[in-house]
Amino acid sequence: MSRLALPGILDVLRVDDATQIDALAADPRFDRRYVPRGPLINRMVLRRIRRVLAIDGVPLPPVAPRGAERPLPAQAATEAWLDGLAEAGIAGDDVEALAAWVRGAGDGPVGELAQQAVGRLFAADYRADRASWAAARVMGAAPSDFNPLRMLLWGLTRRVERARDLLAEKVGGDATGVHATGVAIHNIVSGLEAMRAQWSNREARERLSVSAAVAKAIVAPRQVVRQPTVAGSTAAGAFTPDTLVLLRLETANRADPGYDTAFMDGAWSECPARRWVPALLAAVWRRAQAQAGTGAR
Ligand code: HEM
Repeated sequence: MSRLALPGILDVLRVDDATQIDALAADPRFDRRYVPRGPLINRMVLRRIRRVLAIDGVPLPPVAPRGAERPLPAQAATEAWLDGLAEAGIAGDDVEALAAWVRGAGDGPVGELAQQAVGRLFAADYRADRASWAAARVMGAAPSDFNPLRMLLWGLTRRVERARDLLAEKVGGDATGVHATGVAIHNIVSGLEAMRAQWSNREARERLSVSAAVAKAIVAPRQVVRQPTVAGSTAAGAFTPDTLVLLRLETANRADPGYDTAFMDGAWSECPARRWVPALLAAVWRRAQAQAGTGAR
């Protein structure tokens, strides 16, 4: 935990501990309203989230305010739908291609392969290509990239807007689909890269069970942002309404690996894909074993 406050410039409270993250995530004093206020960099970050991660001014679900009711009916419906798909079994050409890539036998680039596997949740004929993967890279970087030259260029060329429009068009305007294929996809790709590294170690791949291989491939978001609605303090430190609270999931998860922190299980904002993502990764690992003719465990 640490608070970094430079008057007029920056005010953040960084939380790295999984137990404190759980407590903060459940605390109603912290929300995702992202009202631009506080010192300069705080306002820039808040404006950026609202500008990039929205469609027609409506925030994408993972950056939407808490609201009066949680889980939202849409959040619960998404989770039920994804759970049904996971229970039915995840298979098909995309899984075969990802499994081959994990074994080092297939054609990359993995970003496009993974984006297509996720995109097909939202559009049966989804085809990822170089342009859609480039758009995902822009969406992944834009909320936290403050390189002034790049920002100028991206502003002049409307790069972020065009990236978001392309991703939205491919999923019929579905906001969860834009998030999944443009933002969350980077965590899945990092997980697949971790899986490929495991596979390349013969001893590790023969020793690991499917669930152990999947657990090592769950990559948490680097951080999620909360904005206090009042001043106060927690075990993680003191804050004011101007403080940005950074729940650093990746660091917390590395110290205490598991699914709970990575998907914020049990929180009002918990990820509706928290069982589907592990099911996809398990399907990929099993297919890699089957393709290689090694036993499944
Ligand atoms: C490795 C992959 C993924 C990880 C680690 C992950 C993690 C998370 C986390 C931590 C949150 C909470 C964000 C916050 O409270 O600020 C979240 C929210 C969300 N995730 Fe995921 N996610 C992943 C993939 C996906 C995918 C593939 C989808 C869609 C198919 C998805 C859909 C959502 C949605 C809709 C929310 C917003 C829930 C709400 O507040 O209503 N996620 N995810």
